[in-house]
Amino acid sequence: MTKYISNSAEDTERFAERLSASLKGTEVIALFGGLGMGKTAFTRGLCRGLGITEGVSSPTFALVNEYRGKFPVYHFDMYRVTSWEDLYSTGFFDYLDNGVLVIEWSENIEGALPEDAVRITISRGEHENQRIFETEGVAINEAIGG
Ligand SMILES: Nc1ncnc2c1ncn2[C@@H]1O[C@H](COP(=O)(O)OP(=O)(O)OP(=O)(O)O)[C@@H](O)[C@H]1O
Ligand SMILES: [Mg+2]
Repeated sequence: MTKYISNSAEDTERFAERLSASLKGTEVIALFGGLGMGKTAFTRGLCRGLGITEGVSSPTFALVNEYRGKFPVYHFDMYRVTSWEDLYSTGFFDYLDNGVLVIEWSENIEGALPEDAVRITISRGEHENQRIFETEGVAINEAIGG
């Protein structure tokens, strides 16, 4: 487990950007943490690191946004996904192994996450703009010195 303390949204983006350098292209990055914790900010930074310049926003209505960079990135929002049927309809299982999957609201699909998913849990820190990122996943921990 590796811990990173972010002090601003931009700090979170830079953290994710650095972390993107270690990706091989088929990781599942499962983000946990409630409303406004910075899951989309993290995803934006990760995408920036992969050379994705288009706007990255929460795919709340589409459920999945697809971006093309160094690797394809599939950005999910599982907030409204509450059944296996819902999950199938997002295309989740078709995208696995075909790109990097970044998943907001992973709480809702925990049972479907592959064993080797990189799990990142975000919680509040001591002040308004502080967030604590706790990361589990071997490749990522090596990349960020954990
Ligand atoms: N250290 C920080 N890291 C990330 N975001 C921060 C931080 N400090 C403050 N913020 C603010 O918190 C908000 C995070 O919004 P963001 O959309 O990334 O959250 P989210 O987890 O994706 O939320 P949702 O569950 O609604 O999708 C932004 O308004 C951002 O400016
Ligand atoms: Mg979001």
